[in-house]
Amino acid sequence: MTKQWSVGIIGCGHIFDAYARLSQVFAPLRIVACADIDPATAERRAQQYGLRAMSVSDLLADPAIDAVINLTNPASHVEISAAALKAGKHTYTEKPLALSLADGRLLVELANRHGLGLAGAPDTFLGGAHQSARTVIDEGAIGTAKSGSAHFMNHGMEAWHPNPHPYFQVGAGPVLDMGPYYVTVLVSLLGPIKRVVALAQQFFDERLVTAPGPNQNTLVPVNTPTTSQSLLEFHSGAQVHVSVSYDTWGHGHTNPIEIHGTKASLMVPDPNYFGGPLELIDGTGRRRIETDGRPFGRLNWREPAGAYIGNYRGLGLADMLAGVAEGRKARASGELALHVLEVLLAIVQSAAEARFVDIASTVERPAPLPADEASRLIAANAPLEFAS
Ligand SMILES: NC(=O)c1ccc[n+]([C@@H]2O[C@H](COP(=O)([O-])OP(=O)(O)OC[C@H]3O[C@@H](n4cnc5c(N)ncnc54)[C@H](O)[C@@H]3O)[C@@H](O)[C@H]2O)c1
Repeated sequence: MTKQWSVGIIGCGHIFDAYARLSQVFAPLRIVACADIDPATAERRAQQYGLRAMSVSDLLADPAIDAVINLTNPASHVEISAAALKAGKHTYTEKPLALSLADGRLLVELANRHGLGLAGAPDTFLGGAHQSARTVIDEGAIGTAKSGSAHFMNHGMEAWHPNPHPYFQVGAGPVLDMGPYYVTVLVSLLGPIKRVVALAQQFFDERLVTAPGPNQNTLVPVNTPTTSQSLLEFHSGAQVHVSVSYDTWGHGHTNPIEIHGTKASLMVPDPNYFGGPLELIDGTGRRRIETDGRPFGRLNWREPAGAYIGNYRGLGLADMLAGVAEGRKARASGELALHVLEVLLAIVQSAAEARFVDIASTVERPAPLPADEASRLIAANAPLEFAS
């Protein structure tokens, strides 16, 4: 029988809905309470989902709450995660883990000292698509991975996010906001990163908010790079080009991630999602590999614009809580998030200082998530379809 943990969410903004709704998919957790710096926001969310609205301090002091999901803005991540760990709560945080390496290390150290689970987004690398890619690579189908590329390019969030301001400040921008998805899955597939070199720029000093809401028609100052090109060198010897931008009007990179090996090339789907097919290309031709039969690979979420995606946000938390019960580390561990944070900060630093930056931390590749173990994380009556 899977142990079920009571979870409180701190931060009731845009991404709250996805976590609150998708929590029904996972056997090890039940969301029971929520808190926000703005009590009215917490109250509204609590009524919407039948939760208890609490102040942040009351939620952290409540012994009935085992774990916290930190969905605050990046600038509040370390404050809230540290407070949750000090209050004895297992903690799962949205990305990035922290804004500085020192703060990231503090969180990992706090969790280890108190014997608590600490894990963080992104957890998409645990989905059916990227676990299938992991299997293809681990079985040797591409030979030795030597090079690759990753592209995330769009025109920012001021046209759709009601509060886009934090995304253009230090600690965000496409490197720290979207970079975690790409770098995390690359570390899962290829192992830890040794050094990086990068260039960065920003096309615009201000962004006009056109998204409906209280900030519509206001200007957001841009205080962080919004386009960056980097080269990551892995300890394995692989070299991967990562290009991220909130400035581009469109692009033709149809494969979000490509890995090129001595025997074959592997096309890997968007690491912002959990599903999607792979393509393996070798001297004999191209082969599509479906991944929707694997747990957390089936498409289940219809976006307002009509896109149909695999969305299982919270899988990393479910794995962390199952891990606490089993006495093992989370796959989306604090240590993994810390290594990824160091790489992302190094990209920004490399561009600012025009030099290679060595990565001091290292981390083991997270263990693969086998289908039987993944299936045990699924609740008995898990809904199969969602629409946002
Ligand atoms: N919006 C998305 O599509 C998306 C997707 C994936 C991940 N994320 C991540 O989720 C996190 C939240 O993003 P969002 O888009 O929901 O932001 P948001 O601005 O919509 O919501 C953040 C909420 O946190 C609250 N908050 C901020 N500081 C707080 C504090 N110290 N204590 C309590 N509450 C506090 C705010 O009042 C707000 O309600 C970010 O880390 C972001 O990177 C967002």
